[in-house]
Amino acid sequence: AAPVAVDLAGIAPGALRTVAWRGMPVWVLHRTPAMLASLGRHDALLLDPQSAADQQPVYARNRDRSIVPAWFVAVAICTHLGCSPVFRPDAAPADLGPDWPGGFYCPCHGSRYDLAGRVFQNVPAPLNLLVPPYAFHGPGRLVIG
Ligand code: FES
Repeated sequence: AAPVAVDLAGIAPGALRTVAWRGMPVWVLHRTPAMLASLGRHDALLLDPQSAADQQPVYARNRDRSIVPAWFVAVAICTHLGCSPVFRPDAAPADLGPDWPGGFYCPCHGSRYDLAGRVFQNVPAPLNLLVPPYAFHGPGRLVIG
């Protein structure tokens, strides 16, 4: 399958774009400084905060799981049974509770991922969200695959 190019100029800070790659949805999230700061506050609650257990690109084996911290790229498929998690960037909404830091919530069986796709403990999903191969080709241009 061909690589997919994404023009980053059209994605505002805080916004999420979904693109298709190899028949799968892939998210491109423009993380704000506040979103990045949220990642440092809950490592103890995560299953695998450094992505040590995953088959992941080397640039995904860290806290923000990215090449450039402002840009988070991940396959938008829950690692439990393949549902599509929902982007819920705001912290502590009434329905997700006071501990919700902002992230991705899977409505099928309640798996929770933070804004780096890192899965929380005590949910059915066994792994962090998959980060696909990607690279930056010049300013403002991301190529997935
Ligand atoms: Fe996402 Fe089961 S498929 S929690």
